[in-house]
Amino acid sequence: MTIATQETASPFAASRRTVAVIIAGILAYPFLLQFFRLAGRATGDAGMAWPSVVAWTGVVLFMALAFALPIMGFFLARASSELPLSEQALFQRRAAHLAFATPSLYVAAGGYAGLVKLSAQETLLWIGLWLAVAALLFWRTPARERAAATAGAPSWLPVVHGSVAAALVLIFLAGHLTNHLSALLGLEVQRAIMHTLRLWYRSSLVQPILVAGFLFMIGSGLLLARARTTTYTDRLGTLQTLTGIYLAAFLFSHLTSAFSARSRGIDTDWLWATSAPEGLLAGYVRLIPHYTLGVACLITHLGCGLRVILLHHGVARRTADRIAWSIAAGGALLASLIMAGMLGLRL
Ligand code: HEM
Repeated sequence: MTIATQETASPFAASRRTVAVIIAGILAYPFLLQFFRLAGRATGDAGMAWPSVVAWTGVVLFMALAFALPIMGFFLARASSELPLSEQALFQRRAAHLAFATPSLYVAAGGYAGLVKLSAQETLLWIGLWLAVAALLFWRTPARERAAATAGAPSWLPVVHGSVAAALVLIFLAGHLTNHLSALLGLEVQRAIMHTLRLWYRSSLVQPILVAGFLFMIGSGLLLARARTTTYTDRLGTLQTLTGIYLAAFLFSHLTSAFSARSRGIDTDWLWATSAPEGLLAGYVRLIPHYTLGVACLITHLGCGLRVILLHHGVARRTADRIAWSIAAGGALLASLIMAGMLGLRL
């Protein structure tokens, strides 16, 4: 795409259509999950109102569709990556980032609706909110093509962002995810590890550092993504900003729900996380894409960060890219295994 020094109208129509498709996908998301939940319930229905094969086909189909939105977000963010970037392309690229983060944004929206006792109206609120966002996006974006202004971030920020991330992996995340993976070995193993880890991360010394660290990651990550989305990014660079935005939404939702549940005296253990006794398939199905992508995005984001460090140290791009893609594949595998454990698989 070239930026016209003379203004032209047609690219705006294209990006407007693309953004309309993105918003339609986001609006459809709650309904998709409702169908998924119906199919999930039918799989456990002893009376077999639905034939088992239909129920399981429904589960697979609706889950694939729920993941289709983030996948579409990736391709749309890539489609708007050429430079120089127009305001319309930036508009499309940022809307694509929102589509990618939909599974966690939807969990966050449900959590906040619950906090203000509006759970029954959450779908209406979701639709109203996104129609307002769409109106704002269309209103704020000029109807004629103009070059987008580039946004900057302090030069020290990426280094501090990466260092805090590494510290959080060491002091919390490695243990947290290992603990979730251990559910494959049985809930007693998972519980024993969780109680041991809690002595560390719930201590009066570590807990405030952890929370401050994660809040810093959200704030600094949003600033970095704002800057990076206005410049050229290749496939892994796009994945880095997409997974970063996803993690910001994920953490915002995850921390709010964990701490608000704890403040109400609920034990935020495995049973809480897996929506027991109903289970995730028949209960709070929205947690399936939310958690699966949470783990996959975390590992992928770390892999993309490592790639940037490797490139800075003169490692060949091909090698650095291969390492990042391998880490992302490992993240997808880890996420699938943890989700299998959450859905009841035991080894
Ligand atoms: C399948 C994925 C995940 C599940 C099931 C899960 C579940 C949980 C549960 C049950 C708690 C409460 C722990 C307790 O009460 O001791 C918790 C806390 C937390 N989780 Fe996760 N989590 C997941 C992934 C993640 C990821 C990817 C991150 C970070 C990117 C994360 C960050 C946190 C943080 C910061 C806390 C608060 C810890 C504290 O009490 O200080 N979690 N999570």
